[in-house]
Amino acid sequence: MAPVESLLSWGPLGGLAGDLGLDLGRTVIVTDPRIRKLHGADFPPCPVIEVERGEAAKSLAGLEGLWAAFLEAEVDRTWTVLAIGGGSVSDLAGFAAATWLRGVDFGIVPTTLLSMVDASVGGKNGIDFKGLKNLLGTFSKPRFVRFDPTLLDSLPDADFASGMAEVIKHGVLEGGDHFALLEASCPDRRAMDAAVLEQVVRRSVAYKAGVSLRDPREAGERRLLNLGHTIGHGIEAVTGLGHGYCVAAGLGSALGLAAGRPGANPAARKRILALLASWGLPTGLAEAAALARQAGLARQAGLAGGPGLSDPKAFREAVLSAVASDKKRAADKVHFVLPLDLGRVEIQALALDELSAFIREAP
Ligand SMILES: NC(=O)c1ccc[n+]([C@@H]2O[C@H](COP(=O)([O-])OP(=O)(O)OC[C@H]3O[C@@H](n4cnc5c(N)ncnc54)[C@H](O)[C@@H]3O)[C@@H](O)[C@H]2O)c1
Repeated sequence: MAPVESLLSWGPLGGLAGDLGLDLGRTVIVTDPRIRKLHGADFPPCPVIEVERGEAAKSLAGLEGLWAAFLEAEVDRTWTVLAIGGGSVSDLAGFAAATWLRGVDFGIVPTTLLSMVDASVGGKNGIDFKGLKNLLGTFSKPRFVRFDPTLLDSLPDADFASGMAEVIKHGVLEGGDHFALLEASCPDRRAMDAAVLEQVVRRSVAYKAGVSLRDPREAGERRLLNLGHTIGHGIEAVTGLGHGYCVAAGLGSALGLAAGRPGANPAARKRILALLASWGLPTGLAEAAALARQAGLARQAGLAGGPGLSDPKAFREAVLSAVASDKKRAADKVHFVLPLDLGRVEIQALALDELSAFIREAP
């Protein structure tokens, strides 16, 4: 099996076909309308299939539409499906490619920070089903991933900050000079030097690629990547806030839960919270609720408008019930990733009672 790193290359989207020797007569691009409008001029000259923007693409209808388009374009086993877009485009296109004719070659040009450092690296794809995220999908590695950080210039600032939450999570997990690099980088992406941005993305990609290579099926080390996601997913289900914003609030909460346990380093906690805050990311439940309120978001019925998000108690109870139904729960315990120090996290089985009390009371 080829090492993950050998699948990754760096350079402008415009040079992709030549650099990778793509057979343009046997390549089909999958993208969304916004990305095509913004960056289509640099696409290789191949047929283009447009899918819906964002999460809406990851549906059975989206998958069926893509398969129908493959049929129409006469995509056979010698073709390459090239996803150019964020994680929604690559998750859908990757699943369609993995299942078309029992699997055709697949490449990705990620266009969001989240998809660069997370969705494009790790060989997972999938679509949503019956309202449940990523219920259908495969483990299936792309043949190549091409990184062009200049594509991020068109990304809205809030989406960039959301991606930074996953970048910071990787820095916390690896610790050492990875985290220090993030602290030394300018927390204003418009003022961030292009070379620094590339270094930040490269470091994050290398970390995720390494973990995915060592644990492709999520049987061990890769579970640590769930750091911030247990409470983060609960907040996401309730508020509909951007994924990274919820992960940041989940990471801040996890630091709170880890505080006081053997080996927990208060100085590291302070540094992580400061880095999240410097990117305008929430560091706990109260801040996440306030952000969602400002944005007028509230996903669950009963939280929209009315008592919902403006009632902190109702918000916390809703997060709690979302966390309690999390698939990582076993009986009355939840497997939780606790960040004790930079570069040192542990999975511990927390009693649901302890987690409930924390969610009800923590900042
Ligand atoms: N497979 C995995 O391992 C994995 C990991 C993490 C996330 N994901 C999935 O990724 C999805 C989220 O993806 P995402 O956050 O990358 O965004 P996205 O693909 O949902 O896109 C969000 C919006 O950003 C726009 N956009 C994308 N690139 C842009 C650019 N350069 N400039 C301007 N606008 C741009 C898109 O048109 C879209 O409107 C979720 O469905 C999540 O489940 C998958």
